[in-house]
Amino acid sequence: MAATGTDIESAHLRRALALAEEGRGRVSPNPLVGAVLTSPGGEVIGEGFHARVGELHAERAALADCRERGADPAGATMYLTLEPCAHTGRQPPCTDAILEAGIARVIYASEDPTEKASGRGPGVLRDGGVEVALATGAEAAAARLLNQPFRKHARTGRPLVTYKAAMTLDGRVAAPGGDSRWISSARSRQLVHRRRSQCDAIAVGIGTALADDPLLTARPGEATDATGSEPAASERSPVRVVFDSMARLPLDSALLASVDDGPVMVISSPEAPTRARDALTAARAEVVIAPGPDPPARLAAALGELGSRGLQDLLLEGGPTLAGSFFDADEIDSMMLFVAPVLLGAAGAPSPLEGRGASRIADGTRPLAVEHEPIGEDLLIKARLREW
Ligand SMILES: NC(=O)c1ccc[n+]([C@@H]2O[C@H](COP(=O)([O-])OP(=O)(O)OC[C@H]3O[C@@H](n4cnc5c(N)ncnc54)[C@H](OP(=O)(O)O)[C@@H]3O)[C@@H](O)[C@H]2O)c1
Repeated sequence: MAATGTDIESAHLRRALALAEEGRGRVSPNPLVGAVLTSPGGEVIGEGFHARVGELHAERAALADCRERGADPAGATMYLTLEPCAHTGRQPPCTDAILEAGIARVIYASEDPTEKASGRGPGVLRDGGVEVALATGAEAAAARLLNQPFRKHARTGRPLVTYKAAMTLDGRVAAPGGDSRWISSARSRQLVHRRRSQCDAIAVGIGTALADDPLLTARPGEATDATGSEPAASERSPVRVVFDSMARLPLDSALLASVDDGPVMVISSPEAPTRARDALTAARAEVVIAPGPDPPARLAAALGELGSRGLQDLLLEGGPTLAGSFFDADEIDSMMLFVAPVLLGAAGAPSPLEGRGASRIADGTRPLAVEHEPIGEDLLIKARLREW
């Protein structure tokens, strides 16, 4: 069967989505964007993506690629994963580049919900005589999923929260005494390090900080390196956040001992002793006081503080008490659950979410989508609870 115009458009948008992925972990607080340029005859004459914050946007990267190939962009169609911007940020407006190049048609797969964008770019292009269309269907859905942290942040001012936990086959994240190392395999932990290297911030509760004394840095080379050499450090340093109402984080903790490897933020309450807060500040942690009449209000205030610092993608690494609070406050957007082939069988061992929760199965939360994949001997279950 001959490919229809729609099939061809879908194929170019899928290619643009794949290109956009290339920037993952390097463009925040910008969105991931990919672009494909085709000639009036349908030949691909340019490709580009936003590779790094501060560098060319996908539109200009595709136009540069087109010119490098010696092709003429006049009359071309540009396929984009996101609507083009019409404002000046670290880069000039993409709409200027599209109009100057004489692009005839722009097909984009998702709208930009930020206040400064929100349809302005497509409007500017239409005023300039460009035919503009918003794609629908599978590519549009994929384009929205590509930028969930950016989209939630644009709409709410808060980061997207992905809760990651490792649990036993019988659903426990630690033994009754608190021991949890290691439930998941080295391969699963390596995958977590890669995910850490792509996020903006990693959060734990003070219970986990005290029990495990974690480092929480992104070390993508760790856990597979059989040579014994130093694990490769990530080029990004996510902010390491501890939810610690009373500012109890020990001054000799691994987190504070490694502030040179990445910032540490302590979310405390107004009730925390001033001396404890000052000691943490002296140890070069940033101490943020989350105000509010009750824990949910404080949690919302804390997430607002993270969002106001441009942090869009938060990896919540537990423990179960803090994660339960996030869940009760409706602040978990997606989950990564590593299920490991080990059984504890112990009453009193915590499960991934130790919150108030639901008292009837009928009132339980059903994710929008669930995927699973084997990671070595573990099973990774990814659940998406909401879409932005
Ligand atoms: N298997 C896994 O994936 C995994 C991951 C992480 C941890 N763990 C295990 O889990 C255990 C620790 O978990 P945990 O539940 O005891 O501690 P946690 O969830 O890490 O921390 C809980 C503490 O966080 C503080 N907090 C600050 N703001 C909060 C808020 N809005 N809601 C709730 N708590 C808030 C509270 O102490 P303050 O009021 O004093 O601030 C609370 O007691 C350890 O055994 C650890 O090894 C397992």
